[in-house]
Amino acid sequence: MEKILVTGGAGYIGSHACKALKAAGFIPVTFDNLATGWKDAVKFGPFEEGDLLDRARLDEVFAAHAPVAVMHFAALSQVGESMQVPGKYWRVNVGGSLNLIEAAAEAGCKHFVFSSTCATYGDQDNVVLDEDSAQRPINAYGASKRAIEDMLHDFGASAGLESVIFRYFNVAGADRDAEVGEFHRPETHLVPLILDAIDGKRDALTIFGTDYDTPDGTCIRDYVHVCDLVDAHLLGLTWLRAGKGSRVFNLGTGEGFSVREVMNRAAEVTGREVPTQEGARRAGDCTKLVSGSVRAERELGWTPRRSTLEHMVADAWKWHQSGHYEK
Ligand code: UFG
Repeated sequence: MEKILVTGGAGYIGSHACKALKAAGFIPVTFDNLATGWKDAVKFGPFEEGDLLDRARLDEVFAAHAPVAVMHFAALSQVGESMQVPGKYWRVNVGGSLNLIEAAAEAGCKHFVFSSTCATYGDQDNVVLDEDSAQRPINAYGASKRAIEDMLHDFGASAGLESVIFRYFNVAGADRDAEVGEFHRPETHLVPLILDAIDGKRDALTIFGTDYDTPDGTCIRDYVHVCDLVDAHLLGLTWLRAGKGSRVFNLGTGEGFSVREVMNRAAEVTGREVPTQEGARRAGDCTKLVSGSVRAERELGWTPRRSTLEHMVADAWKWHQSGHYEK
């Protein structure tokens, strides 16, 4: 069976990708330093502990496994933190990716699937965000991801490395079997924080800003189910292996929901109230991020099947209530 190197395979999205890769007949080799990932999320293939900043370790892993492609999920991904300590984001995300891309190119592994973000677009009011939209990130996280996109472009030209770049909108939900799910410490993402508040694991959800220029004053995001997201990665891999070349795809549904709408839906799905308090805006947050593209549907044949708020909250709630979440 062919191997795929999955950086960040012990993390939220990476662990779901490993499950999908295994189901599709690949061996997912997780490369992870466990800084934000969890060893017990590595259930679907071998584990290689290592740091992207350690080039020699990467070379060793490429030599040991000869992967046919890389799926690169490993990254620091907290928008707020990236505003406070930008150097960390440039070092780990950009420096680490440079090591990985060079190691892949030198090992002759020429197919690369990369997790980028809609945060590379920045805050563009009333602009339909498609893959050709200007990229003007307003936080260091988005800037670091845009730099990696540029890097992949340059290595495509010089080393024949072909990449599918996915610009994710907001990922939520969990595996339906609750084998893996979202687990960040500290948690910063809206859906798990709402569930924590519902469950009494925290006193209340703080709404970051109620004075945005949106119908209810709270930020609007385009939420996509993690299982739909990893389906797209499998299609991206097939695309590359069919020789279709480098391409960028947005991964979102095209529908935006405000923070209050997500809270209300979570209350409905769980049948519980969400304790909330209103707070100040969080630095680096954009007012509205919604995908305006159907390129992934049209070209990859991607169909986001579970990306309704109901499914995302229900699956996240099932994971939340499973014993796995209590670490
Ligand atoms: N929010 C709150 N209270 C909280 C947490 C979040 O009101 O306690 C709000 C945020 O202000 C934002 C929305 O909920 O409006 C979603 O916030 P998340 O932190 O869940 O997600 P972000 O939109 O900040 O960031 C996520 C990923 C990034 C990715 C980005 C693209 O974490 O990796 O989406 O927008 F780049």
